[in-house]
Amino acid sequence: MASSDPSASFYVTTPIYYVNDAPHIGHAYTTIAGDFLTRWHRARGEDVWYLTGVDEHGTKVQRAADGGGVTPQAWVDRLVEAEWLPVLKTVDAANDDFIRTTEARHIAAVQRFWEAVRDNGFVYAAPYEGPYCVGCEEFKFPGDLVDGTGDYEGQQVCPVHGRPAEQLSEDNWFFRLSAFGDQLIAHYEANPDAIQPVSAYNEVMSFLRQGLMDISMSRSSVAWGIPLPWDERQTVYVWFDALLNYVTAVGYGEPEESEAGRQFAQVWPADVHLVGKDILRFHAVFWPAMLMAADLALPRKVFAHGWLLVGGEKMSKTKLTGIAPSQIIDHFGSDAFRYYFLRAIQFGQDGSFSWEDMSARYTAELANGLGNLASRGTAMVNRYCDGLLPAAGEATAAEHALVEQLERVVAVADEAMDRLDFSTAIVEVKGFIDAVNMYVTEQEPWVLAKDEAQQARLHTVLYTICESLRAVAVLYQPLMPKTMSDLWDQLGAAATLGPIAEQRIGDAARWGQLPAGAPVVKGAGLFPRLEEAGA
Ligand code: MSP
Repeated sequence: MASSDPSASFYVTTPIYYVNDAPHIGHAYTTIAGDFLTRWHRARGEDVWYLTGVDEHGTKVQRAADGGGVTPQAWVDRLVEAEWLPVLKTVDAANDDFIRTTEARHIAAVQRFWEAVRDNGFVYAAPYEGPYCVGCEEFKFPGDLVDGTGDYEGQQVCPVHGRPAEQLSEDNWFFRLSAFGDQLIAHYEANPDAIQPVSAYNEVMSFLRQGLMDISMSRSSVAWGIPLPWDERQTVYVWFDALLNYVTAVGYGEPEESEAGRQFAQVWPADVHLVGKDILRFHAVFWPAMLMAADLALPRKVFAHGWLLVGGEKMSKTKLTGIAPSQIIDHFGSDAFRYYFLRAIQFGQDGSFSWEDMSARYTAELANGLGNLASRGTAMVNRYCDGLLPAAGEATAAEHALVEQLERVVAVADEAMDRLDFSTAIVEVKGFIDAVNMYVTEQEPWVLAKDEAQQARLHTVLYTICESLRAVAVLYQPLMPKTMSDLWDQLGAAATLGPIAEQRIGDAARWGQLPAGAPVVKGAGLFPRLEEAGA
């Protein structure tokens, strides 16, 4: 999936999040998905750029600031500092950049972009009359609204927010979206992988086949936004400001020979835009049309993931169902959080969070599965071999079977990551961990240890456990960076093989890397039992 040009970077983006409120786990979900994906590609040895950020303009943020009794700038400054930047640390994201749409680099480039599109003949003045949902910050098309229930019986409401849209009537500048329908259809017919999963592809194609209408690219009644360079009474419509972050953050419009200009050439087009399914149309229809209008290359892929549900509905702050990431992470740790959401929910489908399911998987798969294997392996090397990894003797069928399984697991997991099938990649590695745990049970090293004559066999078994853990640490490092780094240290791998960050996925299955004599430490448990964690 990475671009075939070796000088190009693997560029992944998250949506930029509205700062009307603090983040909840629905937002963190996209961020950890992108973080797992990009860390995996880094571990393949690729050059990677991972961008996230915040969407600060528009009515929704303006109204939140009004409600808080402060200016929108003061509102966003406070929330970004107090909530949105810290949450990246909380979930352990290794993003390369963080863009704010109130930054000068963004504002100037947005204005330059729309000047260019206007010069190309795709912008014209006209009145807009129709419904607008402030929750979505979206002009609603015929067929977008549904019949309301309860308080809104008899009215048309937004299907995402469950509230009536507002009726707008204002003079705007329009983007000639209708000019791009045929080109978009042709593009997606030629590149069916450009929108995933298939359900998202089909949704976009049927929307495109209905025919596209032109759409307002500016707002005359919204002051909190980027002024149009040719008509300062109007601001850029918030989505047509926000989508541009994907290029403004990587040097769009800068001179080719400048550092920023060189970055743009190396990074654009994006390899993957990760988005929730509610914002698919913006990314798979409006955004590529904007890029076509400015003669820029189209992103290679838009992947629409599902929603985290509470009581069958999209988790949201507005509906007071938002759970802050720290509520879960304070209890389970960031690695278990990352593991749970990417393993338990098939990426692309909706999923529900429950404390019971999370606790059950934590205990079964992390504490009893991987954690127990690591503590048994390192403890036995300490007990029977003074903490120095023994050399392996002759391998038997049991060891050969594990080595072969590991080779298969690496190939299948790596291929699954190309499809953004995170749970398959994770479950493959888990299958290997289960097999090694079974191997330990069957080989009974504690029995071998009682028999002098079985010493060579004991050493082979202990070596096999530790060498398997070495491979697991490399494969799970993009998912659970902190814990796998601890495991790496416990195995004596940091001291003998170098930093875990320098290990490569393509090399993970090569057997026999840990040298005999490596100092193995029986460290603290990788995943403390919940009672111990204060549950
Ligand atoms: N600001 C726009 C995006 C602009 S991108 C150029 C926006 N922001 S948002 O904060 O409302 O949502 C950001 C992302 O979080 C979206 O992908 C959305 O799907 C995701 N999620 C918000 N709630 C979610 C869940 N309950 N579950 C999963 N993801 C959800 O839209």
